[in-house]
Amino acid sequence: MRKLESAQLRNGLLQGATWIILASVVPAISPLAIREAVNELVTKDFTTAAWAIGLYVCAVELSRGATAAQTLNFGQLWRALRRSIANETYDHLLNLPSRFYLSHKTGETIQTVSEGLNGLRSVLGALTFGIAPAVLQGLSILVVLIVLERLDLLLLLLVFGISYGLLFRRGLESRVAIQRKAVEADAEAVGIVTDALIGQEISRLFGTSDLIGKKVDDVLAKGEKSWLAFFRSQHTNHQQLVFLFAATTGLYLLLVAYRVSTGALTTGDFVLAHAYILQIVSPIERLSFASRDLIQGIGNLTRLAELLDHEKEALSIDNRDLSLKDNHFTVQLEKVSFGYEPRRQVVHDLSFEIRPGETIAIVGLSGSGKSTIWRLICRLFDPHAGRILIGGIPSDQMDLTALRSAVAVVPQDCFLYNDTIANNILVASPLSSTIEVAEAGTLAGLEPLIARLPNGWDTKVGERGIRLSGGERQRVAIARAVLRRPRLFVFDEATSSLDSETEKAVEKSLSDVSAGASTLIIAHRLSSVCHADEILVLDHGRIIERGTHTSLLALGGRYCAMWSAQSSRRHE
Ligand SMILES: Nc1ncnc2c1ncn2[C@@H]1O[C@H](COP(=O)(O)OP(=O)(O)O)[C@@H](O)[C@H]1O
Ligand SMILES: [Mg+2]
Repeated sequence: MRKLESAQLRNGLLQGATWIILASVVPAISPLAIREAVNELVTKDFTTAAWAIGLYVCAVELSRGATAAQTLNFGQLWRALRRSIANETYDHLLNLPSRFYLSHKTGETIQTVSEGLNGLRSVLGALTFGIAPAVLQGLSILVVLIVLERLDLLLLLLVFGISYGLLFRRGLESRVAIQRKAVEADAEAVGIVTDALIGQEISRLFGTSDLIGKKVDDVLAKGEKSWLAFFRSQHTNHQQLVFLFAATTGLYLLLVAYRVSTGALTTGDFVLAHAYILQIVSPIERLSFASRDLIQGIGNLTRLAELLDHEKEALSIDNRDLSLKDNHFTVQLEKVSFGYEPRRQVVHDLSFEIRPGETIAIVGLSGSGKSTIWRLICRLFDPHAGRILIGGIPSDQMDLTALRSAVAVVPQDCFLYNDTIANNILVASPLSSTIEVAEAGTLAGLEPLIARLPNGWDTKVGERGIRLSGGERQRVAIARAVLRRPRLFVFDEATSSLDSETEKAVEKSLSDVSAGASTLIIAHRLSSVCHADEILVLDHGRIIERGTHTSLLALGGRYCAMWSAQSSRRHE
């Protein structure tokens, strides 16, 4: 990932500040030249007036040029900043713990990121093009007025400035809250649609599009209501500002006109006063637009900041992967208890051990907590009680990357990236050669499929692997695990979508590759676990029976009953 160079950032900011100062301060003092010109013309001194006009034109040119340069500078700086922040954000999102994903919708999260980046642009734009120049210009005008000793006008402008500031702040606070609601509703709608798109087949099969459409529209209506409130509040605020401005300018011009009539000020002073009013109009307008952008930006940015507030998984802990360097990759669970939600425990008091080279099997009804066990071993979640030791070291003190690279899981529902078959296998070990990929694929029984596909290994699998059958996806996932060359294989009903013929073939080749590594098998078909060194029977998150196939049959308990039920089905 590319980090924004701090020198590059510093230079960009310095340049930007220079342009902003030029673009704001020069127009604030240039009306002085016009006053000079008018006063000289009253005394018919053309040469001095011409000099003053020339100076004025140069000043206008300079400030316009500075504004253009500022636009270019902002564009460059923003793109560099955006790239760097987008990278940081994506990296953060991809490394959030599993717990985050339990309560967040993908579409909503993506929308929050994209709106958050837009929001950052709005805020920076508002500061650069609206607020900073307006404040600088205001301050310069104040200085000019102090130098000219226009204390009464100064007072008037100060009152205007303060009232404006107060109104501006009030509008800002009330609208940030309203806008947040509106943005939340928009993100929720995207979340619902994304969910429906991910499950498009089910959506169409069950004809849920009307239902989803209704749900989305309800959310959008809620958003629209907030947006309308937002626009109304913005409009009111704008009207108040316009009124305040008109009243102040009226008073100001009257006051100056009166003083010109009494001879206290010159005609040039009146022109100067008018020039300043014109001068003030543009920053005030800019402030108004800036306030809108600022509010929208702050709302979006806060949501992004909240997303980034979720802590990332700490992947690496220095020098903590020592246990993986020696060969004793023993996994021990000691009285492990865990639940996804605080009020519902899923596994209770689990203790067992997987020694190097051993095969441990877990059987049990669906929902009994089998898949939860490997999620705990890989530390997708951490136990609430008890501990997990890897090679004698508590797993929460180990380097996560090292731990996970030592385990390869073939999960129940195999997720594939929308890429080629070969690249889907390569994710397990990106530096492997094509030959190694093909070897792993062959071991996983992919050969016949590849032979039939016109593009072979380079066939695109579609979104989530939609172009492959369940069994084919499983074989790709098995190949992925094989290429990983792990210390521990986890097969979570990994051959459930294969027919028994293919299952036998794949199991045979797997026992070859996994020789030396430990294996954790979760299976429905007991025929695929009967060779295991130990079989654990899980019921509602507790181990109720454990032993070898023969000892469990001899025990005549749950396992024995399951075995008889399955063998009678086999013989039917
Ligand atoms: N991400 C999750 N959030 C909340 N509950 C979950 C989550 N995953 C699984 N569960 C619950 O935990 C229990 C055990 O799930 P799991 O380990 O997947 O069972 P098995 O693999 O034995 O079928 C189930 O009752 C399930 O509802
Ligand atoms: Mg499961």
